Amino acid sequence: MITKFEKINKINGELYLPGDKSISHRSVMFASMAEGKSIIRNLSFGEDVKSTSRCFKELGVEINHFENHTEVIGKGFKGFTKPKSELDCGNSGTTVRLISGILSPQNFESILIGDESLSKRPMKRVIEPLSLMGVSINSNNGFLPLEINPVECIKPISYELQVASAQVKSALLLCGLHSEETSFIIEAKETRDHTERMLGLPVKVENGKRIIESSKKYYPHAKEYFVPSDISTAAFFMILTLLSKDSELLIKNVSLNPSRTGIITILQKMNGNIEVVNQQSSSGEDYGDLLIKSSDLVNIEIPSEIIPNIIDEIPILAIAGIFAEGKFKISEADELRVKESDRIKSMVYNLQLLGINVKETTDGFEFENNRTDFEIKAFESFDDHRIAMAFAVFSLLNKNGGEVNNFDCAKISNPNFMSQLNSIIK
Ligand code: S3P
Repeated sequence: MITKFEKINKINGELYLPGDKSISHRSVMFASMAEGKSIIRNLSFGEDVKSTSRCFKELGVEINHFENHTEVIGKGFKGFTKPKSELDCGNSGTTVRLISGILSPQNFESILIGDESLSKRPMKRVIEPLSLMGVSINSNNGFLPLEINPVECIKPISYELQVASAQVKSALLLCGLHSEETSFIIEAKETRDHTERMLGLPVKVENGKRIIESSKKYYPHAKEYFVPSDISTAAFFMILTLLSKDSELLIKNVSLNPSRTGIITILQKMNGNIEVVNQQSSSGEDYGDLLIKSSDLVNIEIPSEIIPNIIDEIPILAIAGIFAEGKFKISEADELRVKESDRIKSMVYNLQLLGINVKETTDGFEFENNRTDFEIKAFESFDDHRIAMAFAVFSLLNKNGGEVNNFDCAKISNPNFMSQLNSIIK
């Protein structure tokens, strides 16, 4: 199905966005692992987090949604029950990778499956290091389904991550929580640190590398979680506002975890008028309001160290790049190739459709554009929520509008994109 977007006049107003997807997944997981009742406020209702909840329900956890909160009755240390069938992780890489770290130390067998896109994403990155912890996982040559076999006990490891991935790091840390002895997970490039923050895991920095400890001492207890709004979801509205004339938007309670705020830093350096107001903190996670005003953007050189921090925002950042002065260039971002779609290919395809002269590289893409108006085009979402929303924003900014094929996949992270948008278009 094709969704049509027309050029907007201006943006004005205030938005409350759904809970951060990464923090939501972890809240459901940690609450499920803990013994007894936890409360989660502002949980994401995107399809990905629903996949996590569905898996934990299959493992015997009770999860109930109320008007203003979600209640989880967790099963405690090794308290999960063997699922009756395969656990379906849907489209969600975070679900499958993190849950594999939680299920590896259980004393029953479990099988993880996913949709077509997830079935094409690499799982060796978790299987190999988990096997160093004594875990045995059968796979389809490094792809789903994963068959996790029961294991007597978990071996502690000292392991340096081979890919800059918070999902891999988290899988190992979560597995490590099931041993009395300490595991040390080392990362050379900092990735999002929600797992270590939310569990209160000790982190040391040595020779520029982060060393994170995990052991049973840090196994989660039942508690109350507040999930700040998703900065990756906010990014679409930030860029829409910056690039619309005479516009101003206040986005409330946005996650300001320093391992996620790269998009704000980059947009500010691009001359974007974004102010952080009313900063607060809850469960180790910072959040605050973002006040965004129309700006004339200029492309800048994007440093490679910031890539893991902005990895999910690159599609929408490239849209900002189209309307900003100068050359837009992304490099050292090969991880984009193994997201919900190959995001380098997806972006290049749609940019070429616009007639932009874009150069694809192994680890990124680059282009320079001087045009402001483009003919109406039907963009491909490649069933990837962030590609769909990126080209929806492009269409809303383009004089002739635009169309997005299967925009519905936006529900993976933000089922209410359309109503939020309609509430701020003036
Ligand atoms: C996530 C980590 C990132 C990110 C994904 C969510 C997480 O993936 O792209 O959307 O919640 O840990 P990688 O760990 O594969 O980089």
